Amino acid sequence: MSRSFFITTMGCQMNEYDSDFLARSLINSGFIPADDPEFADLVLINTCTVRAKPEQKAFSLIGRMAQMKRRRPNLVLGVVGCMAQQQGVVLMERFPQVDLVMGPREISRFPDILELVYGEGERVVATQLDTPPPQTVPCGEYLRGRVTGYISIMEGCNNFCSYCIVPFVRGREVSRSSNDIIAEARDMVERGIKDITLLGQNVNSYLWEGERKQDFVSLLDELNGIEGLLRLRFTTSHPKDLSDKLILCFSNLKKLCPHIHLPFQTGSNAILKSMKRGYTREEYMELIPKLRGVIPDMAITSDVMVGFPGESQDDYEATLDLIRRVQFDGIFSFKYSDRKGTLAYSMVPKVDEQEKASRLSMLQDLQKQISLDKNRSLEGKHVEVLVEGESKKGGRLTGRTGSNKIVNFTCDNDKIGHLVNVTIKRGFLNSLLGDMDPEE
Ligand code: 5AD
Ligand code: SF4
Repeated sequence: MSRSFFITTMGCQMNEYDSDFLARSLINSGFIPADDPEFADLVLINTCTVRAKPEQKAFSLIGRMAQMKRRRPNLVLGVVGCMAQQQGVVLMERFPQVDLVMGPREISRFPDILELVYGEGERVVATQLDTPPPQTVPCGEYLRGRVTGYISIMEGCNNFCSYCIVPFVRGREVSRSSNDIIAEARDMVERGIKDITLLGQNVNSYLWEGERKQDFVSLLDELNGIEGLLRLRFTTSHPKDLSDKLILCFSNLKKLCPHIHLPFQTGSNAILKSMKRGYTREEYMELIPKLRGVIPDMAITSDVMVGFPGESQDDYEATLDLIRRVQFDGIFSFKYSDRKGTLAYSMVPKVDEQEKASRLSMLQDLQKQISLDKNRSLEGKHVEVLVEGESKKGGRLTGRTGSNKIVNFTCDNDKIGHLVNVTIKRGFLNSLLGDMDPEE
């Protein structure tokens, strides 16, 4: 009888891609997906360690799964992803029920590692960082029913921002073969995927020098030509490397969506310098009119953190000021979190936790108002929506605009996987509500 598996994923889109990759490779080896960890023979926990909070969540989830294994000793329990890389053998010692600890750069060796666990009965810790990126695994039936999908185009990061653990747990930057990426995209489109997001910590430095040389712009150009693909997106762009050539793609490539995620992290030049971000506030601000010059209503989203060591009230005010000036469509905002091994870990003075919380809450209030105003300004407008499925509240369909805004709308027929025009009736903080326009 086939073994079954269950994967639980925490953290970023990169982790979601990795979990999909692991699922595809398990299906290829004869495993079947289970809906519930209680009924799975293999449970993988894909973890995140970018801040202390997700790490804590991962620890408590591993604790619960370890308890489950005490009841069901035949269960194979694996911890994968960034926190697995960071903790390595320590995790095995802390949780004797864990059979497998595997870092994100080992996923290309996953079938061999699994063979050691199942075939040899070994407990395996796999945390090499200098491995090549994984080759494509066919998606088979795995993505059936989904409209959107991810493709990782590169692994790792060379930037070493002073607060960030990613270069330590995902290793140095390495691009995947463009032939593999294109084959993966075609395979996904054949299986019904209409909207592909390309993933990398810094997509602008994508470079493949194998069979034929390809940079990020030429890769986008080629993907734009895939028949049946409706939308193309990418994340993340680093502001220091955002080229004019890439900005022009937003007007030249029909399928490239008018949305960019461009993390700024802080509005203070002094803090940008200690973060080692490689750009100034002014350089960041210059990119905004350039982007809006190409696509006037381009959606711009960002990441920001408050309470980096040494952040004064003035530094914080500079961050709020930047947010007011740019008018982002949305922001992911965080309290700075000390990560052992990073440069910022030993930087002082640390900002008090309560102060960080109050700075974060004020910043979030400011952004909420901006996001709400932006969404309300769409009331009465027509937008094009790619329909992704039924909305959580029954009786409606849900999808996204090219600018990545969620739209829930009424519609009489099954339009999943199609582009439809919707008139917006109401703009909320996190979504839009509308009615589908009559079809011509
Ligand atoms: N503390 C707080 N936020 C962090 N991020 C990365 N490292 C840390 C940290 N140590 C945030 C950054 C990054 C996003 C993915 O997570 O804003 O862009
Ligand atoms: Fe971390 Fe900076 Fe690399 Fe982003 S660019 S993953 S913040 S080191």
